[in-house]
Amino acid sequence: MKALLVTGVAGFIGSNFARYYLEKYPGRRLIGLDALTYAGNLENLEGLPADRFIFVKGDITDAALVGSLVRTCDGVINFAAESHVDRSIHDPLSFMRTNVLGTGTLLEAARACWRQGGRWQPGVRFLQVSTDEVYGSLGKEGMFTEETPLDPHSPYSASKAGADLLAGAYHDTYGMPVVITRCSNNYGPYQFPEKLIPLMIRNALAHQPLPVYGDGRQVRDWLHVEDHCRALDRALEDGVAGEVYNIGGCNERENIGIVRLVLSILEEETGDPGISPSLIRHVSDRPGHDRRYAIDASKIRGELGWQPGIPFDDGIRSTIRWYLDNRGWTERVVSGEYLAFYEKNYGSRSKGPLT
Ligand code: NAD
Ligand code: DAU
Repeated sequence: MKALLVTGVAGFIGSNFARYYLEKYPGRRLIGLDALTYAGNLENLEGLPADRFIFVKGDITDAALVGSLVRTCDGVINFAAESHVDRSIHDPLSFMRTNVLGTGTLLEAARACWRQGGRWQPGVRFLQVSTDEVYGSLGKEGMFTEETPLDPHSPYSASKAGADLLAGAYHDTYGMPVVITRCSNNYGPYQFPEKLIPLMIRNALAHQPLPVYGDGRQVRDWLHVEDHCRALDRALEDGVAGEVYNIGGCNERENIGIVRLVLSILEEETGDPGISPSLIRHVSDRPGHDRRYAIDASKIRGELGWQPGIPFDDGIRSTIRWYLDNRGWTERVVSGEYLAFYEKNYGSRSKGPLT
């Protein structure tokens, strides 16, 4: 094996994956590519072995750069993306650029570098890291399977669906060995504090209001990031080219339940009397907000032998402890840019009654 190109390596899942992969495979090398947007932080990569990990700062839409890197690799795992639904509502074009054009640029580089004389080099592999959000929203019953039609509702999920369709087309048209994974909501260390769980932790510690969209009864299926990394590893190693694999935690929770749980663990862990449910504020809903996600992960369980290993009660407590032990990290990644986004996203929301 030459090396695996990991795009978006300085983000939440990319950095967790790099750590997991290099520990699991002591003989393998990674090249990490990241544009270091507001969401990418080199601090997330501290401690990776310098003899087996190279970091390159750059954009996945830069065809020349991407071509020069893919040439030296025999695998790509594409995490790089604009990943936050709320930001996609304010600035959809940057999502189309990175998520669609960027994925297309990577696919083109792989086609140019890995296909010679009408044949694909043996052992090459392209893994597109996607999301359950491409399937849209569920009612009270049912789960997303790999056959569920794509029905995205936000500019974020539409751009991810576009990327999935491109990746699938490169398999169907050129025979490229592409695998697509679609995972539910991740939680764990190094998640940027714009996302539900770290945002609630940070605000609660500062005794700031906890903004819950609408009635807070929307349902997400939470999976620890390490379980996601193990699933990605299985898909890279043994996933069948052209196939899609759903990944989920079988752990459906209402948002308001997550917020209350985070508060109660924080109260317990810190003993801070200022942390209490009185901080919860129901604010106006996210436009186009999907009501419920639930993943049927029986395909990856049956075909690749993966299943989640970290019980949610353990994972959420260890995650909260990580944020308590790493308050410096949270404050360092929160820049003026984040504060401006926070004001734009939350400042204009109407406030409802206290819970
Ligand atoms: P993140 O926002 O934490 O990280 C994204 C990374 O991509 C950042 O380091 C950023 O700097 C980098 N990046 C952005 N634009 C880039 C560009 N043009 N070129 C190079 N690098 C660029 O996101 P995440 O939560 O780690 O998600 C990673 C991937 O997993 C995304 O593709 C996302 O759609 C997918 N996913 C996320 C979740 C989740 O719950 N977080 C669930 C399922 C799938
Ligand atoms: O399902 C997988 C997706 O999960 C990934 O593809 C995305 O990259 C990732 O960001 C995540 O998307 P969500 O929109 O589900 O995550 P977020 O943490 O933004 O929100 C989780 C739920 O909490 C959602 O229903 C909206 C709600 N929410 C979120 C924030 C930030 C609130 O009620 N208040 C908030 O302030």
